[in-house]
Parts: sequence; structure tokens; C-alpha cells
Amino acid sequence: MRFEWDWLQPVMPVPYVPTLGPVHPDALAAGLFSDVLDVAGTGRFLPYDKDQRWADRKDETVLPNGIVHTRHQTLIPTWSQRGAGSFTVYVYGPDPDGQAAETVAKLAADHGAGRARVVTFHGPDTTPPPGTAHTRVQLRVFGRPSPADQPGPVRPVDGLPGPARATFAGFADRLTDDGFAFLHRQMQAGAVGPVLAVTDGGRVVGAIGPMETMTDSTGASRLLPQYFGVLPEHRGHGYGRTLWRAAMHWGTTHGAAYQLLQTETGGASDRLCQAEGLRSLGFVQTVPRSAWSRAPLCSAAPVPLFRLVSGRVCGRRGGGGRGSRAGRW
Ligand SMILES: CC(C)(COP(=O)(O)OP(=O)(O)OC[C@H]1O[C@@H](n2cnc3c(N)ncnc32)[C@H](O)[C@@H]1OP(=O)(O)O)[C@@H](O)C(=O)NCCC(=O)NCCS
Repeated sequence: MRFEWDWLQPVMPVPYVPTLGPVHPDALAAGLFSDVLDVAGTGRFLPYDKDQRWADRKDETVLPNGIVHTRHQTLIPTWSQRGAGSFTVYVYGPDPDGQAAETVAKLAADHGAGRARVVTFHGPDTTPPPGTAHTRVQLRVFGRPSPADQPGPVRPVDGLPGPARATFAGFADRLTDDGFAFLHRQMQAGAVGPVLAVTDGGRVVGAIGPMETMTDSTGASRLLPQYFGVLPEHRGHGYGRTLWRAAMHWGTTHGAAYQLLQTETGGASDRLCQAEGLRSLGFVQTVPRSAWSRAPLCSAAPVPLFRLVSGRVCGRRGGGGRGSRAGRW
């Protein structure tokens, strides 16, 4: 099994690999796709997979036998056990027949999964289709420390005076939806790098972290994505920008070559990153099953998870044209 890079690369407007997420444009290579296939179904992490920070086993896995790979289009289905389970089909290239939606709906129906979604990619100079959620992939490259990226009044939580440090728990509780309650548990377990905080009146009102680096598939050091939030009543006063710049200063001084981020397009952090000069690498659009046609699925027999035959969902597709067997594994 191998991907034809000549087929895949031209239909990949965003450097994004299923199960791994965005990668640096210079790290994008056929080998990454082979690597995620090699660990499919094993629960193992690739050595450069950032998700190993948070779990002992890799959750999302590619379903190799469900892959469609032709000169014009590549569809890569994945399965995640988290929650009620979810299927995703990553679409590279045009999909005029809606094969991805059909495939993922069939998978979810057969296996009783709670969620099914289709992920498509749109270049940085395009306007992603309206009506559904999309994120922007952004790249910050670190050079020499910049005077703008100074830590300012920001301190690591562990370095705050005791009474201020004690307010972090309440801060984290209030930003549970932004991941801070989870992060706080990791901090208490001593399992993560420093978390930077800004205080007002002796209380933590904003934080960013954990600050950690990891080498990518090429050996370059990247700053990993952080949790980032400011209490609602303190937003719009510059704390977010101050925290962001302190985080960039940390990355520069700890040898990171770059950071990749995914921000909700048009949201506050997206605008902040754009204003701070990050380079847009394009958009990732996620369309949940509820958003597409509810046409009934035909009643073909369920397909076992790791024995999918691509192009045979609902038994409709034969040979020839896009999606034909000729271009698949
Ligand atoms: C993102 C967040 C941390 C920004 O904090 P903040 O203290 O309000 O940010 P600042 O006051 O420093 O604003 C910095 C820039 O962010 C952008 N921004 C902030 N609030 C914004 C809003 N409501 N709408 C659009 N852009 C906004 C602007 O570009 C702003 O620059 P400007 O003031 O020169 O226009 C804060 O909005 C937040 O906690 N949001 C919820 C959690 C979240 O989305 N985290 C990011 C996950 S990736």
C-alpha cells in the first residue's frame, strides 16, 4: 500500500494529515501518510504525534481498506472511539458525487457511531463555503527574539505569589469549556510544561499554556498548541495579546522553529493571530452529518471496520472513472 504523491500533492491545498492534523509545509510528504497507515488500528503514537501529550493510546485511526485513492481524489476515512464514537472522511480533491458523505454516513449507520463528519480543505486565498464551521490553519515562524515578544507582566503560574497562584483554580473552573479545568488537572499531576498567566488585582484573569516543544517528522522543534483564555469580563483590554506575545517569547527562547495553530475563522483568537502577522495556510471545513442531505441509506450489509472495500458503499460503484478500483489499494 502506498500513496502516489503525484496524485495526492496537487489536491492538497492545506498541509493537513488525517489523525495528525496540520503539519509544517516543509514537513509535508508521502511518508507521513504511510506512517499513519502503519500505525492504523494499533493504538500506537507516531513519535512526532502531538496527541501523545494527553493520552496513553492513539484514539483516531485511519481505516486503510476504506481509502479511495485516484489521480483526482483521495478519501481517507478514520474512526475515533471517543464519546459515542465518530467516523470522519478527509477529502482531498473534488467530490462532486458526495461520495465522502455517503461513505461516512454508511459507516456510522453500520457501526452505530454517534457522529459522522466530512472534512474538506480550502487554500489560503479562497473563501471557504459559508454555512458550516471552519478553522484557519496558521503558521508562526520563530526567528531571533523580537522586542514585541516580551513576557511583560506575564508570569508562570508556579512563579506567582501564593495568594495569586491559588486563584488559578477558580479561573480554570470558569473556563472549563475552553479546556482549562482539564489543563488544571494535568498541572496538578505535574504532567505538563509551564502555564503562563496574567493577573489583575492579585487574581489570575488570563492564561496560556502548557508551553512545550516537540520535534516534528523532520527533526525541527515546534511549539505545541496551547490552551488560551481570558475571563470574559477582562477581555478586550489587551491581556490576550500580552499573553500571546509572552508565549511567542517563550517559544523563541526555548529553541522552537515554528508553531502551528488552528483557529475558528473570524473568532477573537483568529483575528489576534492574523493581526500578529501569522501566515494563513488555508482552511479546514468540518461538515457534520446533520448538515447534509438526509437521503435514506440503502440497505447493503454492514461492512466490518477494518475490511472496508472502498467505492462499494451501498454497492453502487463499479469500475471506471473516479473512484474506480484501478487507483486504489
Ligand atoms: C481569544 C482571547 C484570549 C483574546 O483575549 P483578549 O484579552 O480579549 O484579547 P485582546 O484584548 O488582547 O485583543 C487582542 C486582539 O484580539 C482580537 N479580538 C479580541 N476580541 C475580539 C472580538 N471579540 N472579536 C474579534 N476580534 C477580537 C483583536 O484582533 C484584538 O486586537 P485589537 O484590539 O487591536 O483589535 C479571548 O477572547 C478568549 O478568552 N476567548 C475565549 C477562549 C478562546 O477562544 N481561546 C482561543 C482558543 S484557540
